Amino acid sequence: MSSSAVSYARQNHPRFLDELKALLRIPSVSTLPEHKGDCRRAAEVLAAELTRIGMEHARLIETEGHPMVYADWLHAGGKPGAPADRSSSAGWKPTALFYGHYDVQPTDPLDEWLSPPFEPTERDGNLYGRGTCDDKGQIWAQIKGLESLMAANGKLPVNVRVIFEGEEEVGGEGIAAFVASKPPELKADFALVSDTELFAPGLPTLCVGLRGMIYTELEVRGAKTDLHSGMYGGAAPNPFVALAQMLARLKDEDGHILIPGFYDDIIPPSPEELAAWRSLPFDEEQYRIAEVGSRTLVGEAGYSVLERTWARPTLDVHGIPGGFTGAGAKTVIPAKALAKVSMRLVPGMTPAKAFALYKSYVEKIAPAGVDVEVRLIHSGDPCLIPVDNPYVRAATRALKEVWGKETVFIRSGGSIPIVGDFDRHLGVPSVMMGFGLPDDNIHAPNEKFHLKNFELGIESIVRFMEEAGR
Ligand code: BES
Ligand code: MN
Ligand code: MN
Repeated sequence: MSSSAVSYARQNHPRFLDELKALLRIPSVSTLPEHKGDCRRAAEVLAAELTRIGMEHARLIETEGHPMVYADWLHAGGKPGAPADRSSSAGWKPTALFYGHYDVQPTDPLDEWLSPPFEPTERDGNLYGRGTCDDKGQIWAQIKGLESLMAANGKLPVNVRVIFEGEEEVGGEGIAAFVASKPPELKADFALVSDTELFAPGLPTLCVGLRGMIYTELEVRGAKTDLHSGMYGGAAPNPFVALAQMLARLKDEDGHILIPGFYDDIIPPSPEELAAWRSLPFDEEQYRIAEVGSRTLVGEAGYSVLERTWARPTLDVHGIPGGFTGAGAKTVIPAKALAKVSMRLVPGMTPAKAFALYKSYVEKIAPAGVDVEVRLIHSGDPCLIPVDNPYVRAATRALKEVWGKETVFIRSGGSIPIVGDFDRHLGVPSVMMGFGLPDDNIHAPNEKFHLKNFELGIESIVRFMEEAGR
């Protein structure tokens, strides 16, 4: 590999890593109001770094929540939109849109971390800390890829726009509105999304599908105020019991969702895609023990684990706050109960329809004596990415060179709502090239990023851009 940008990246790796650690020390937890200032500080660091490496027009774009970060460098030649006549298009270069998010998940339970979440720490070939993999390590790989190209050549091989958001972990409403407005800042030929993972260590991977989701709150109200459970127990409705009864009717014991019509619009994966999944190196027992750590796996009969997590909708309960949860005992019938419930959606399904079906079912099954209210907290569409385009081909050439293996195409059960929006509103296909590993503990204690993946991730991005601009 004779890329001088790759050589630059290798020579500067220790510095790249130190800089990433500085970014990781900023606790940019988007869901917690007390970290609002930290989110802005992270955005400012990114904008300043983009300017320093030679990107232009770097600035924060305000939203109603945390700011986005924008920058561009548009001097490679041409404008977005491949000229119809390639022969008269000498010098035309595509425009790439780099996407990632600088916000991170909360850190609880804190006492399970072996090193503090916002003190990035190297251990056994990994960098530990909140946001190392999801997603600061990956956006830093993007920036360092751009720096390497710029420093080695004085220019970039393609036109580049960068958009980072600070609200991905809370639904991404700010960027969704921005994208829907079709701003000139986002005109591009393809997006590079670095927020996914390799299927297995050392195996170059492109993610071509994500599940969508609806995240809801289900509130159940009984008596007008909290009541003594001895005086009123037997006569007053208990909203927690009612809630439990309703939750138990959302899904049966085989993991089948009981909401009428829920499965009606699903577009199943093609036989070819299913066959490709069967040839992936996947050991269900190893997955159960090493990743999940439960006695058995659960879910719909007749579907493999990969199908169940990538191509089937699911429903989960995240928490049931309220009532008495302190030490000891308090004999109370709470006036209200709440559950946080989300559903993952697959291609063919829409958040609006899924929510409407869920809402009317829940209202129907509410036990006597309680009122229910269903609220939509956020939602995102599922997506499926076309792979038959020159950008995916450039990406696989680059990955082959850097990792020495053919790329596997996978889907992911997670959601990145904006990827579907790039396609729908901007007509921009995404190349989801991410460098996490399945056991990186994202959203969990001891999140890590494999240092080798940070290094090869930068090289992959460098070579991808060089191939895309060839
Ligand atoms: N990077 C993840 C999504 C992901 C995880 C993709 C693993 C591929 C593999 C992203 O940051 C995330 O956590 N998304 C949330 C989205 C939600 C809050 C709208 C998710 O999936 O829960
Ligand atoms: Mn992410
Ligand atoms: Mn995440």
